[in-house]
Amino acid sequence: MFKDVPYDQYMTEVTQKLSSGGVFLTVKGEKLNTMTIGWGLIGHMWGKPIFIVPVRKSRFTYGLIEKSSEFTVSIPFDGLKKELALCGSRSGRDMDKFKEFGLTPVDGKVINTPVIEQCNLHYECKIVYKQEMQPDYLDLEYDEKWYGNKDYHTLYFGEIVACYVKVQ
Ligand SMILES: Cc1cc2nc3c(=O)[nH]c(=O)nc-3n(C[C@H](O)[C@H](O)[C@H](O)COP(=O)(O)O)c2cc1C
Repeated sequence: MFKDVPYDQYMTEVTQKLSSGGVFLTVKGEKLNTMTIGWGLIGHMWGKPIFIVPVRKSRFTYGLIEKSSEFTVSIPFDGLKKELALCGSRSGRDMDKFKEFGLTPVDGKVINTPVIEQCNLHYECKIVYKQEMQPDYLDLEYDEKWYGNKDYHTLYFGEIVACYVKVQ
């Protein structure tokens, strides 16, 4: 069972999880897929709650999210470390990660993209803006450190249309 919570109630936890093992970014296209993200931002913009997720062009997820208008972010409070590592190193091009790693998709409340049952906290997001990174505007040190292979991120801005936690 899920309980709706204010989108900003768990911001500290989300930041902590992003930076220590990551969280699941799920996108549904011709195939349902999830991948681990370790970067992301929650904030307030255009009078809306917004979740920004960065996806590099090399990801299978990139092809899916480019054709989609939505995504979900699912976050375990504890555990699923192995699954996060696997979803962050294996590609949906080669496998069904949900099946392979025992993750259960559950229908979204508002959008058509599922969340992951085994997680505690979920965000359903409708994409309202995207921005390809522009290398010319990037700090040179960051460019050299993170983009030696020129595999830049595209940032997807999702309006948070539902945010809820699992309750026992
Ligand atoms: C802890 C962690 C954090 C990651 N963060 C990101 C991220 O923020 N953006 C990104 O594009 N890839 C990130 N990755 C890499 C993708 O999760 C990885 O390339 C994945 O296999 C892509 O899956 P896909 O090809 O099915 O889309 C991360 C990986 C790990 C392990």
